[in-house]
Amino acid sequence: MAKADNQYKDGDMLNALNGKNLINPSISNLPEFGPKIKLGILASGNGSNFEYIIKAIQSKKLNAEISILIVNNPHCLAIKKAENNNIRYEVINHRDCISRDQHDKLVINSLLEYSVELVVMAGWMRIAGDDLINKYKGRLINIHPSLLPSFKGIDAIQQAINNKVLITGCTVHYVQREVDSGSIIIQAAVPVNEGEDKNTLQRRIQNMEHIILPAAIAIVAKRIRTILKDKKYF
Ligand code: GRF
Repeated sequence: MAKADNQYKDGDMLNALNGKNLINPSISNLPEFGPKIKLGILASGNGSNFEYIIKAIQSKKLNAEISILIVNNPHCLAIKKAENNNIRYEVINHRDCISRDQHDKLVINSLLEYSVELVVMAGWMRIAGDDLINKYKGRLINIHPSLLPSFKGIDAIQQAINNKVLITGCTVHYVQREVDSGSIIIQAAVPVNEGEDKNTLQRRIQNMEHIILPAAIAIVAKRIRTILKDKKYF
C-alpha cells in the first residue's frame, strides 16, 4: 500500500527516487571508485553501446580504460569506432575455430594478455562458455534489450511487441550459464507506444541502454575495487 508523504523515512525516499530513475535514469552521478578499471569489450554489431562507453570515459564520468575490444565478426561497425578512437581491437572470428571451446579460449587469452579486469558483452552475439564464465566470475556482464526475466534470447524486442506488453526496457546483468539469467545489476523501463513498430521501439530502448551500461560498469567496478579488492586476477 502506498505511504502518505509524511510517512517516508530518508531511506524510503531514496528508494522512491531510485525507482524514478529506472524510468529516466541519469548518468550524471555514477558511483566513484579508483584506480581506473581495465575493460575488455566484446561486440559483434554496430557498437553503439561500445561508443557510449567510450563517451562516458572521455567525459570523465567513468573511471575506466578500454584495454581491448574483441569482435567475432570482421565486418562489424564496432571496429570502425575502435579505429576512430585509437582503441586496440582484435578480431577473433568464431568461423575460424573448430569449436566453441576453442573460440572461448582465444577470447580468454586475449583478455588475459591485456590484463582485463571487467568484461562487458556489448552486443556480443555469442553464448559465453563455462571457461569464460568461471574465469571472470562476478566480472562478466551483458546487456539485453528487455526487462529480464521477460523475453530472454534472440529478438527480445519483437517478443515484447508480440506479447503486447505496455512496458519493456533493457537490463544489464551478470553472465551465468543459462542465457540472459544472471543476477540483475540495473534496468531501465521503456513504455511501448500504441502501434509502435520494432525499429522505433528498438531506438528508444537503445537510448536507455546507452545510459545504463556505463552506469552498470561503474557499479560493478566499484564492487571489484571494494569487495573483491584483495583478489589476484592475473
Ligand atoms: C543491443 O540492443 C543489446 O541489447 C543487444 O545487442 C544490441 C547491440 O547494439 N545485446 P550495439 O551493437 O551496441 O549498437
